[in-house]
Amino acid sequence: MCGIVGYIGFRRADRVIVSSLKRLEYRGYDSWGLAISDGGELKVFKRVGGIGSVDDINLADSGIGVGHTRWATHGKPSEVNAHPHMDCSGKIAVVHNGIISNFQILREELERNGHEFRSETDTEVIPHLIEEYMKSRDFEKAVFKVVDELEGSYAFVAVHAGEDKLVACRYKSPLILGVGDGEIFLASDVPAVLEYTNRVVYLEDGDVVIVDKNGFEIYSNGKRVERKAELVPWSIEDAEKGGYEHFMLKEIHENPRVVEDTLIEYLRDDIEIDAGFFAGISDILIVACGTSYHAGLVGKYLIEKFAGIPVRVEYASEFNYHPPPLSRTLVIGITQSGETADTLEAMRRGKKLGMKILAITNVLGSTATRVADYTVYTRAGPEIGVAATKTFIAQLIVLYLIALKLSAVPKRELEEILDQLRLMPQKIRQILDREDEILSLARRYAGYENIMYVGRGIGYPVALEGALKLKEISYIHAEGYPAGELKHGPFALLGEKTPVVACVVKDETFESMLGNLKEIKARDSKIIAVCDEDVEIEAFADDVIRTPAIDPILAPITHSVALQLFAYHVARLRGCEIDKPRNLAKSVTVE
Ligand code: F6R
Repeated sequence: MCGIVGYIGFRRADRVIVSSLKRLEYRGYDSWGLAISDGGELKVFKRVGGIGSVDDINLADSGIGVGHTRWATHGKPSEVNAHPHMDCSGKIAVVHNGIISNFQILREELERNGHEFRSETDTEVIPHLIEEYMKSRDFEKAVFKVVDELEGSYAFVAVHAGEDKLVACRYKSPLILGVGDGEIFLASDVPAVLEYTNRVVYLEDGDVVIVDKNGFEIYSNGKRVERKAELVPWSIEDAEKGGYEHFMLKEIHENPRVVEDTLIEYLRDDIEIDAGFFAGISDILIVACGTSYHAGLVGKYLIEKFAGIPVRVEYASEFNYHPPPLSRTLVIGITQSGETADTLEAMRRGKKLGMKILAITNVLGSTATRVADYTVYTRAGPEIGVAATKTFIAQLIVLYLIALKLSAVPKRELEEILDQLRLMPQKIRQILDREDEILSLARRYAGYENIMYVGRGIGYPVALEGALKLKEISYIHAEGYPAGELKHGPFALLGEKTPVVACVVKDETFESMLGNLKEIKARDSKIIAVCDEDVEIEAFADDVIRTPAIDPILAPITHSVALQLFAYHVARLRGCEIDKPRNLAKSVTVE
């Protein structure tokens, strides 16, 4: 939610900032702005809508500035509410990601002291507070004092006209430092700086950083601290479309490579996951949101099946209202970004209760890795499309490996599944090779306004994820349901205007699923079955999306890739903004 950028160096800050903001647009895209320090004044530019072109920006020939791309929380998208926000004098500008929960009290106090507010945002208290404290101290010290006053979550960067420095803070919202030669970048996420450097310092909660042309100093609890720069193994090409029309399509096509990379990391002769970490656990609680939650549901099925360990899966945003875990529960937080506020909060709650915490995340150094005792990284590379695709597949791979590592299945059976997993990149390529068939099918269904997705057993989370993918990018109302539950209510919605996508798996659920398909057909809904190519299904479905034959336990991977392509093509045919669906942001850093 919201992306922030700061730059100080030898290039033109306005250009660097706009190009970095473009790479953060997935975090919010309802309005944007920048402030460039030019001599003794700030040049400020704000617009509603997506980030404009670098070529249209010509604010000042200066090497210092800040920028922001917004996902509205306090106040609707407008130029007034767009960041940067300024103090009364117009000399201090701030860009912020997060929520200042005590902003109302601070604002009232500042207004009593004569400060005039222009926007409805929580952020605006920050520049006014800095201005207030600068009456008796310098810029840096004023920012330190402001940090003591703020409650909530924030990453912000402040600039003061006439001073060749930026001051930034991080608390519960992401912020990294990109370290170049003679230039320093501040950003919400690594892709923003990859064009210039892959040396990155991950700031910690409570850090205040002062950046000038000579480098940077980091303070924690008022004391200077050293934080090492790490080399990020991503390149700028990873964060570009590479000839594809959309990031989402590129990312779906990266699935085979992502599976390969994740397997290379964790599956050599043995499964390279520290089994010792899991010793002594009685049960597992998975906390996650959205697509990651669906991966968690597949994980539950796998861990219970292979390892016999009971697993509970909770939406992280609901977890606080449920009874706490038991003392020997392992908490697994699944979050591709590693920054989802609800998931982090649930992980922290588990930690406070004394549980062991495992993170499954795609982002090196993200907050989830700091909360966790142990992290298993998905090797998906940066995901820019708002709809999660390759990271979901990578999460599934990691969950298969964890479940199999903990498993009690005989060695031979284990080896057979691992061999099939090793074949997965090839199987996914076969699905991608059939993209034209999926596109033809998408043409037949793109005009519907309601589509039901159903599955049973391990096919049920696949149905949920298929429906989420479709609804978020095509705006078709799509619901995922356990096929057996249809007759307990949703049947009322079926009929010729509501087709049903059925995830059919040739396992113990198969016969019941065929029964469900007959029931659906009797209600006149068209049926699209997603099914392995060696399964006879034609008699039960109007259309079939074929996936390569594989052990049924691995069907969530192949079926999900096929449904990602289906959702993509339906949305494209409907002319939707695929990479940036309305009202969404990739990283949900507010609760
Ligand atoms: C849907 C999607 C979201 C995320 C959810 C959690 O395509 O991307 O539902 O899965 O916001 O995000 P992470 O995994 O970063 O915690």
